[in-house]
Amino acid sequence: MEKLVIKGPTPLKGEVVINGAKNAAVAILPATLLIDGICTIDNLPNISDVNICCQILEALGAKITRNGKHSITVDSRNITTTKAPLDLTSKFRASYYVIGAMLSRMGEIEVGMPGGCKLGARPIDQHIKGFEALGAVVDTGKGVISAKADELVGNTIYMDVVSVGATINVMLSAVLAKGTTVIDNAAKEPHIVDVANFLNTMGADIRGAGTDMIKINGVEKLSGGATYSVVPDQIEAGTFMLAAVATKGDLLIKNCITKHLESITAKIIEVGGQVEDFGDSIRVYCDQRPKKASIKTLPYPGFPTDLQPQMGVVLSLADGTSTINESIWESRFQYTDELNKMGAKITAQGKSAFFEGVEKLYGAPVYSTDLRAGAALIIAGTAAEGITEVYNLEHIDRGYEDIEERFRSIGADIKRISE
Ligand code: UD1
Repeated sequence: MEKLVIKGPTPLKGEVVINGAKNAAVAILPATLLIDGICTIDNLPNISDVNICCQILEALGAKITRNGKHSITVDSRNITTTKAPLDLTSKFRASYYVIGAMLSRMGEIEVGMPGGCKLGARPIDQHIKGFEALGAVVDTGKGVISAKADELVGNTIYMDVVSVGATINVMLSAVLAKGTTVIDNAAKEPHIVDVANFLNTMGADIRGAGTDMIKINGVEKLSGGATYSVVPDQIEAGTFMLAAVATKGDLLIKNCITKHLESITAKIIEVGGQVEDFGDSIRVYCDQRPKKASIKTLPYPGFPTDLQPQMGVVLSLADGTSTINESIWESRFQYTDELNKMGAKITAQGKSAFFEGVEKLYGAPVYSTDLRAGAALIIAGTAAEGITEVYNLEHIDRGYEDIEERFRSIGADIKRISE
């Protein structure tokens, strides 16, 4: 078993370079299945979710060539099966993108029920609604999803909830469909725009990504052979921004799109942090105890749920009582029990949590309950006095590349130990 041992407190200072977005990468890689050709994806984060994604593509017959740490070439000319390995697909959430892509390319697919972080119920009814509206027959039984379509025909789909996954998945299934598909009440996250840009680079005709109405004019074939670079990770950038505030540090966060960070910037300023925006980099610093705030997580451009635990660390240390309302996931406050072990005073009730700010956190053994909770605990350990041991690192390694080296490079006293 591995753990991270962090000795704090350390104000994080220096520069950090943001990697490509995990949530874009795990959609773009399955999207390559739509291409009867070879394409190269650059700026991929080197994380375990990307590795699992590649293993699934390989199991379906695609050839994967690694061109160094952040670039992969996918040759999808020879898809050999429509049954994705259940053990791999049920390991992570984004395996559901294989359904949209393979339905489009091969007319059928079988995958395991998607896994991923345990954040409460994670239904996929809107994905299925979209596939069925295009003419697919979908069956979900015994932990397996199978989908089949003799022909996919464009349709108008109103999403009953704003869903990142369903928006991307319906987009994937509609790219080669006959006629026009309209996704109404679509999600607007930066990675949705990135997936649409990738597909358009390959010859798709998708318009309106980034708004709540996306129009996909089906094309007969996508061209292969192009190279695409994944958008910088908004959540990783936000994680380091909040780490700067929680540790009273000063970080220059490079290779990000600051437009994607506006909701985070606004909240950092509200709690007393300073932000300098340079367009493709952002400086965040804080030399005072954070002030209290109220946060409500919302779909983009609102405050992202995936930065809620990291913001929770800042509010644990704030002057006064803060509240967070989580409107996306029903069980996203499991990390608060861990922060309370470190001296925080948080009361979580259903989808709300109340943070009675404390002046200091203290090191303790803590368990990462999901990916972003893990990032929050690393930030807390860096801000806290004494030794923090963070366990369950497999969650963190799913989504953050070289996390301890990157924290160490900005001053953290952190090491990974195998027990
Ligand atoms: C994606 C992100 C995840 C992030 C989430 C919200 C990936 C791989 N993961 O997850 O990190 O926390 O967006 O920004 O990109 N819902 C339904 N029916 C559906 C689909 C979703 O009711 O068919 C509900 C969910 O329960 C949730 C809300 O819609 O309450 C948003 O979920 P969604 O945007 O789909 O999240 P994911 O795509 O799974």
